[in-house]
Amino acid sequence: MLLHHNPASPFVRMVRVVAHETRQMDDIQAEVAAVLPIERHEAISSANPLGRIPALVTDEGHGVFDSRVICAYLAHRAGNTDIHPSTDFRVMTLFALAQGLCDTAVNLRYETALRPENLRWDQWMARQNERIFAALDDLEANWQAELAGVHVGSIGVAVALAYLDFRYPDLRWRDSRANLSAFYDSFSQRPSMQNTKPD
Ligand code: BEZ
Repeated sequence: MLLHHNPASPFVRMVRVVAHETRQMDDIQAEVAAVLPIERHEAISSANPLGRIPALVTDEGHGVFDSRVICAYLAHRAGNTDIHPSTDFRVMTLFALAQGLCDTAVNLRYETALRPENLRWDQWMARQNERIFAALDDLEANWQAELAGVHVGSIGVAVALAYLDFRYPDLRWRDSRANLSAFYDSFSQRPSMQNTKPD
């Protein structure tokens, strides 16, 4: 399999953590793409017409995307229903929450790191910050039982928190979130997390 990826992307990292946890890293050839969101990348676009990473090309030559579908594909390929329990709607909702947290954090990153300063939209940025803190508060209060397992939900949350540390080191998400902090301290020691850190 070929994975079009960028090590800084949290969506790519979720896929790589699932591949690691299901012992499929050796089956994946990684093609690194450093591409701006306003540019078209030929090889990525041939795997995913939306031109987004992660995009996986199977051994049969089919494109599989987005990160949610790739995680489901890898779990299916490994015959591992624990890592992607598609009928456990608490876990799948936790996965969606983690994905949404990453979407929001990445969109905000584009706005602050790439968009010219005179075009920035302060109210929109303020709303994204509110979304991030609302997601963190919900994770702290309501998801301890689910976060005790190893599946796409807990992987997604660990990757989202790692992305916040990576791109927003001053955010102080740990303040008054002891449960989430303890979860991350423990989960981030897993070999799958240690071996997929962005450079
Ligand atoms: C980043 O550099 O933060 C990033 C790169 C690719 C996709 C998403 C985020």
